[in-house]
Parts: sequence; C-alpha cells; structure tokens
Amino acid sequence: MVTDFFKVSNLFLYERKLDNFLLLQKSESPIQIYFLDVDGCKKVASENNWQANFTISINEILENTDVCAVAEFNQRLAHWTQISFGGAYVAEIDKKIRVDSKSAYLHGIYTEKDFRKMGIASAVMEKVSAYLLERGISRLYILVDSRNPSMLRVVAKAGFKRIGAIKLTKIGKLKLYRRKGKISDFLESK
Ligand SMILES: CC(C)(COP(=O)(O)OP(=O)(O)OC[C@H]1O[C@@H](n2cnc3c(N)ncnc32)[C@H](O)[C@@H]1OP(=O)(O)O)[C@@H](O)C(=O)NCCC(=O)NCCS
Repeated sequence: MVTDFFKVSNLFLYERKLDNFLLLQKSESPIQIYFLDVDGCKKVASENNWQANFTISINEILENTDVCAVAEFNQRLAHWTQISFGGAYVAEIDKKIRVDSKSAYLHGIYTEKDFRKMGIASAVMEKVSAYLLERGISRLYILVDSRNPSMLRVVAKAGFKRIGAIKLTKIGKLKLYRRKGKISDFLESK
C-alpha cells in the first residue's frame, strides 16, 4: 500500500527548476499520459478500481489536488501522479520554502505493480514538467521517503535537487495547503 510508506519516515524535499527544460519525445511509446481535473481523476479511479491501492478514500487522496497525470500502458491504467499548484506548500517546511504561484508540488505518485521498472514514472515526470512549464510553472517540489531508493533514483534522473528534509511520525503530520489558484487556466488546453 502506498500509504504504509509514510507511517514512520524521513522525507527528503526535492526541487526542480524547469527553466531550461527540454522535452525528449518518445514517439513510439505505448504509454499514453493524460491530465485530468479532480472529477476526472475520481471517474478514472472508480472505473479502474484504483481505490484498491489505497487505505484511505479517494476524496482524502485527492484533497488539495488540482490535476492528476494518469498513464495508460496498452490501455490499462498504470500510473498516477497528483499535482497541486496555485501556491501549494507543505506546512512543516513552510519556513524553508514557500511555494509561489510559479511552483507546483507533486504527490501521490504511484505505478501499478505490474508496470513498475518500465520507465513509466520517469516518462510521467517529463510530461508533467513540460505540461507545467507550458502553463507558467517554473519550479517543481516533491517529497520522497529516504527508504525509497526507486523513487529517489527517479527524481535524481529527472533533475531534482535535494533542498531539505523533514521527519514524520505519521501521515497526519504532513499537511499540504494551497491557495485557490487559477485552475481554469491550467486545465483549459487539456
Ligand atoms: C517509485 C515508483 C513510483 C517508481 O515507478 P516506476 O514506474 O517503476 O519508475 P521507473 O520505471 O521510471 O523507474 C524505476 C526503476 O526502473 C528502472 N527502469 C526504467 N526503465 C526501465 C526499463 N526499460 N527496463 C528496466 N528497468 C527500467 C529505472 O532505472 C529504475 O530503476 P532503479 O529503481 O533501480 O533506479 C513505484 O515503484 C511505486 O509506485 N512505488 C510505490 C509508491 C511510491 O513509493 N511512490 C513514491 C512516493 S514519492
């Protein structure tokens, strides 16, 4: 379960500046990546029984989420990444960073077990970067568990740099807030 990971953990905060980002298009890729608003995410989650991956409800999962990037591999739902923007920040690290309207926070990243180690998370990371850059976002933030080598390598490969760490004893202490941003602007060309 994805949520088990966060019960007792040290989380590293990573940042990626997108200013010089170059998108590497993989034309023959069987991976299709879509960007959905919260209602779209709920629909996709219920149609694919995605809820079975989690111990909490889909409403809790999507709290503070603006957009989901979902990836299909051979027409099966394979990956899910949540994006918060419009002034998202993580409470515990608020003094270290304050994410402004040109920043986004990625969370809830999950590749279905059958589809791991195929490069899907990395491909989504690239598409998400391009999608956000087109919409005026120039920085991405992500928190990764220190005991998650696979994800640590995904973020390193994607060009994220470690800028801090926080200690958690349970998921309830991690609070993500956001100001209401111009969500319609972000979704208009989806
Ligand atoms: C972490 C997680 C999202 C990675 O997803 P993924 O789609 O498997 O990621 P990728 O395939 O892009 O990369 C993972 C590994 O596959 C390897 N890989 C990528 N393409 C590959 C290919 N074509 N053939 C073989 N291996 C490949 C990568 O090198 C990487 O290997 P490493 O872990 O030894 O460095 C996934 O394991 C997961 O959902 N874990 C549970 C939830 C979780 O921890 N989420 C992260 C919260 S921040």
